[in-house]
Amino acid sequence: MALVAQAPSTRSAAGLPLDQIDVSDPKLYEDDVWQPLFARLRREAPVHYCRQSRYGPYWSICRYQDIVAVEVDHATFSSQLGGIQVEDQPQGQERPSFIRMDPPRHTEQRRTVAPVAAPTNLAHYETIIRERTARVLDELPRNTTFDWVDRVSIELTGMMLATLFDFPFAERRKLTYWSDVAIANVDAPDAPVRSEDERFEELKRMGAYFVALRDARAKEPPKLDLVSMMVHSPATREMAPLEFVGNLALLIVGGNDTTRNSMSGGLLALSQNPEQWAKLRANPALVPSLVAETIRYQTPVIHMRRTATRDVEFGGKLIRKGDKVVMWYVSGNRDESVIDNPDAFIIDRAKPRQHLSYGAGIHRCVGDRLADLQLRILWEEILRRDLDIEVMGPPRRLYSNFIRGIRALPVRINA
Ligand code: HEM
Repeated sequence: MALVAQAPSTRSAAGLPLDQIDVSDPKLYEDDVWQPLFARLRREAPVHYCRQSRYGPYWSICRYQDIVAVEVDHATFSSQLGGIQVEDQPQGQERPSFIRMDPPRHTEQRRTVAPVAAPTNLAHYETIIRERTARVLDELPRNTTFDWVDRVSIELTGMMLATLFDFPFAERRKLTYWSDVAIANVDAPDAPVRSEDERFEELKRMGAYFVALRDARAKEPPKLDLVSMMVHSPATREMAPLEFVGNLALLIVGGNDTTRNSMSGGLLALSQNPEQWAKLRANPALVPSLVAETIRYQTPVIHMRRTATRDVEFGGKLIRKGDKVVMWYVSGNRDESVIDNPDAFIIDRAKPRQHLSYGAGIHRCVGDRLADLQLRILWEEILRRDLDIEVMGPPRRLYSNFIRGIRALPVRINA
């Protein structure tokens, strides 16, 4: 726990004994100082054991190919035994959902939800997303500083979620709030909930809201929104209320924080790399590649965790049955043996989609194409308007080891 007490500048990667490195400290991500620690782990201990942390002992998987190997071996590395975060959910307050399941239940429930982000459905969403994006951009203030996260990233992802669930549009910020509640670190100074009990109570409120929505949809013919899909599919129709809420929380967080932070992270990265911005302006056809690079560079999900189902030798280490195994996507995405010059933001890479931000294997993100679509449209519309967006100060980052979040980003549109 040596890392917790130290200021970022003294949290030197070189100075710490290897066995004292604890990359689960959320402060590392709030201060954005995790890069050298992982560079060292990739070099010296790519499969690393942390004996002591506030979340108990855990293994870190730091290299790209090792992460893929864990992802695809879901028989050995279970999502069900202990969940998907280094921090265990408190006993009795688990939020079951299919991301925390192994086959066969995972397969059945995923099959029900996946069509919402299938290409045919995406074509239908494209028009709505473009109209809404255009409106949000046109209503932004000019020549005055405002928060990009609040006015653009949250607004657009909130609208998208409301569309996915066919949720009452005027109440869409409730979705943003519940998403923040679901992922909050209750120890963070500005956490929306202060204890696990408080979180559980809020999520129960969310559950009650959605159960009412579900009951209403059950009486209507099937539609293409997620609540309707879940209520009309045999795999999810009889779902217990807690599991229903768990799956909703999964979709809300899945569709919200990640995309939101990519919208903020992309703007920040472009403003820090003006030559890349110039390249984009000169060639708007680079937008899809910009989107992929943003998602790699931002890595909105910092880690996913698995639990070993048996003793297994991995990367020359013995991982014991029951051990926590954490795949650090932030590290895999900066693995210099796979990605050239990985710490640089380069919007025209030869293989921009080579990244781990969406995971791999049977749990690979269901909403990847939908997220890509939202980001692509945002950048197309920004370029179409030729907006001169200037970042006016440093971002305020989220205190979390799970979501790499940007809480506020002051910007100004010069006109
Ligand atoms: C930039 C945006 C996004 C990122 C970076 C992201 C990232 C991820 C990651 C890392 C996983 C776990 C993969 C694994 O364990 O191998 C995941 C799973 C998932 N994501 Fe996303 N996601 C994004 C957007 C979305 C959106 C828009 C939705 C909803 C429409 C969504 C829904 C889900 C669901 C339901 C799962 C669970 C899949 C399963 O367990 O089979 N995600 N996502």
